[in-house]
Parts: sequence; C-alpha cells; structure tokens
Amino acid sequence: ENIGTIVYANSTTASKSVAKQIADLIRVKQAQKQPCILGLATGSSPKGLYAELVRLHKEEGLSFKNVVSFNLDEYYPMEPDSVNSYVRFMKEQLFNHVDILLENYNVPDGLLSKEAIADYCDAYEAKIEALGGVDLQILGIGGNGHIGFNESGSLQNSKTRLVALDHITRVAASGDFGGLDNTPRTAITLGVKKIMEAKRVILMAWGEGKSNIIKASVEGGVTSAVPASFLQEHNNATFILDQAASSKL
Ligand code: GLP
Repeated sequence: ENIGTIVYANSTTASKSVAKQIADLIRVKQAQKQPCILGLATGSSPKGLYAELVRLHKEEGLSFKNVVSFNLDEYYPMEPDSVNSYVRFMKEQLFNHVDILLENYNVPDGLLSKEAIADYCDAYEAKIEALGGVDLQILGIGGNGHIGFNESGSLQNSKTRLVALDHITRVAASGDFGGLDNTPRTAITLGVKKIMEAKRVILMAWGEGKSNIIKASVEGGVTSAVPASFLQEHNNATFILDQAASSKL
C-alpha cells in the first residue's frame, strides 16, 4: 500500500529519470562534502540506468569520486573474471567507464572459502553501517519476487548470507551458464534487513513478464513468499515501471 509507483512510456525514459535522480543525489552530497552511498543491482533491468550514468559522466561531467557502492549479490562460487560474474558485469556496465575509485566499490566476493563466508557477510554489513547506511538502493525483481537473491521464504530481518537459489531462479539464469547443470546453486546476498534500512529504495521492472509479480508485490499481502512485498513497509520505496510491467495494477 505504501509503495509509490511511477509508470513511464518505456524503459529508456524511465532509466534516464532514475539516472537523473542519482546524479542529483551525488551532486548534493558533493556539495556537502559527503560520500554518496549507493546500493547497486545487476540483471538486465538496470542496464539502461548504468548506460545513462556513463553518458552523464562523459558528456555532463558527473563525477563518481565521492560515490561508495555496495552491490546486492554475487553467485557463489564465482571467479571474478568469469563472463557471468556480477563484479565483471558491474565493471563492464559502469565502473570501468566512470571515475569511481577502485577502493570505493564493493561486490560480494565469490571466491571465499565456505568457512570465511559468515564473517565476510558480517563485515560487509558493518562497512555499510560505518558509512551511515545506504542513501539510495537500486533493485530489480526476480520473476518470483526475489530482491537481490533473497528468494521466497527470506525473512524481513534476514542478514547478508549464503543462500540456496530457487530452481526457478536457476532456470532463468541457465541460458547464461550454458545449461542448468553449469548454473550455480548458491549465492551471497545482502539480507532483506539492510535493504529495508536504505534511506530510499527504487525498484525497476520492465515488461509484461514482470506484471504479475509487480501486482503481487504492490497490492498483495506483505509476505516472505514475495520478498519484494516487504517494501510496502518501507517509508520511501518507489517502483519505476514501464507500461507493460504496470499493466496488472
Ligand atoms: C537476478 C539478480 C536480481 C535481479 C534479478 C532480475 O536474480 N540477482 O538482483 O533483480 O536477476 O533480473 P532482470 O533484471 O534481468 O529481470
């Protein structure tokens, strides 16, 4: 009930609007001599946003020197240079094309030993907290309502952790991995709690294929079956949609 929805004619205009809001936030923080803490997402949905941020950097002088970013998730195990790694995705879509400092972007590490994961996840959260929390969290949404890799059943107070991927999530990713057998079974994801603690959340969704889960997330009950529905309890969450994704609302 509390989720604001804004519908654009298409994903290109929507992505440009989100990029403008991020650019404005970065500049406000620059003027205040403060870091701008961004939570970032992977998947196809934010690609247009990152392309527009790169354009704003190259053509309009937007600097990312005061940006500190935390990505939501990474497959586990995952080599950073692998074609499907989320850190590689972020470098190719954004980090390699703007002036963000190498030490200022964070993507969960897919190379950790199993024993090291719990401490690593606690430290990832502590690093966010030490900076005062995420100013703006960007999200996509999985077809099953997952945010990050918080699959159905994830609790509202869940911490950053290693999770088992849903079968449906693995099937959706299997094309990228050359079949289900090669698709990771686990991932490290920021927990729902840290997502909910972000000062502002923008979830982007495009296309008819997302329309049912958008309806469930915005108009259905708040339930761990649909983790995106937890955002109904966030006081500054907006869903940015194209016509098709909003068509069932
Ligand atoms: C993956 C990511 C999610 C993302 C989802 C949707 O599962 N871990 O963070 O939101 O895909 O992807 P897409 O934007 O390609 O629909």
